[in-house]
Amino acid sequence: MPAMCVRSVGSLSCVLVASLALAACGDNHGDPDAGTGIDAAVIDAQVVDGGVDANPNMPPTIADTGLCLDAGCQQIAPDVHGYAPRWALWSDGAVKQRYIYLPPGATIDTSDMDHWKFPMGTKLWKVFTRDNIRVETRFYLKTGPADTDWYFVAYAWNEAQTEAVAAPSGQQNANGTTHDIPQRSDCRKCHDQVPGRVLGFSALQLDYDAPSTELDLKDLVSMNLLSAPPTAATGPYFPLPAATPTEIAALGYLHANCGHCHNPDSTVHQIVPQVLRLSTAPSALATLEATPTYMTTVNVAPTQSSVSAPAIVNAGDPDHSAMIIRFESTNPAIHMPAIATEVLDTTADATLRDWITHIP
Ligand code: HEC
Ligand code: HEC
Repeated sequence: MPAMCVRSVGSLSCVLVASLALAACGDNHGDPDAGTGIDAAVIDAQVVDGGVDANPNMPPTIADTGLCLDAGCQQIAPDVHGYAPRWALWSDGAVKQRYIYLPPGATIDTSDMDHWKFPMGTKLWKVFTRDNIRVETRFYLKTGPADTDWYFVAYAWNEAQTEAVAAPSGQQNANGTTHDIPQRSDCRKCHDQVPGRVLGFSALQLDYDAPSTELDLKDLVSMNLLSAPPTAATGPYFPLPAATPTEIAALGYLHANCGHCHNPDSTVHQIVPQVLRLSTAPSALATLEATPTYMTTVNVAPTQSSVSAPAIVNAGDPDHSAMIIRFESTNPAIHMPAIATEVLDTTADATLRDWITHIP
């Protein structure tokens, strides 16, 4: 990436340049989608929005963000809560821990249960550990009232694991691992595809029995943190359709790993109509066959001609399902997910294949 993008980090003009001129910046740090054939302009269209990238207040180290009490982040701040989405995003085998800070007294606007809106001052973090080494901690902060008002940046851990400093331009092969830290504009290729921006701290992702050290939906209800709590008296508040564990695992995996791009609100949806994000709407959870995932993929012909298959999910036949062909492909022009992974998730591959094999 040319120096112009690296040097003037943090200034609005550079960020605009960096996001408008992704192509000119060539092989971006942490941008494994270069040359995938996906329309970068479409995915990047929202990168240049609103006040997020204009925020000059990038805390220099991870401790400065408020996550922890010490520079090495061994002590998490008392007002920060851990949580884990029940279905995780695959990050080439990295182990991840997630945290949230909510401003005291504020509630999450849950009037649209599928698209929560967070109060100003909300912070979220995700720590990535690869080969037992902390490589990065991602951070974002709600800076204003609009959906676009979020500030995203990752912090790179030093070799001694004593400090993590802001890495707005990303970093390849962080700390000697094969893990790439995304540059700031890359965060938004995924997070901007869902109106609320927050992807894993959501009704469906938290509607399960989490370990007592971690927040789940029950906790949020009992702590009065939701403006419009679910109406059911106890969890699960949004029961999943009756289905086998494999079917549920497949739906959940696609929700967490593909749904941020493949959902009705994303720019990707303007290219391909399949929907892999689940919804809390009762009609969309009534049966397996009623989920958008099932309705838009099973025995539905692909719209893209890059892969030859009769259907996105060809019932009973994973080998002739565009979803599996694209998931397993090493050709970056057709591989899915479109960005941010270099290693095939073999467990998920087995789950998706098993699911498809057993569809009558
Ligand atoms: C390939 C898509 C993708 C990219 C690129 C990406 N994220 Fe995420 N991120 C996700 C998904 C999906 C989740 C939720 C699932 C999970 O945490 O396993 C998530 C979760 C998070 C979380 C926890 C809160 C939440 O939304 O659930 C933080 C913090 C975060 N990301 C920050 C960042 C930052 C900062 C960047 C850029 C440096 C970034 N992300 C780049 C997809 C992405
Ligand atoms: C970062 C955004 C992004 C993510 C994440 C993503 N996709 Fe895609 N996907 C795209 C785009 C853009 C296209 C259209 C261009 C193309 O065909 O490559 C597409 C196309 C597809 C198609 C072709 C559909 C058709 O009608 O022909 C399939 C199948 C697909 N994706 C499956 C997946 C699966 C499965 C996942 C998760 C494992 C996933 N995608 C994750 C962006 C994404």
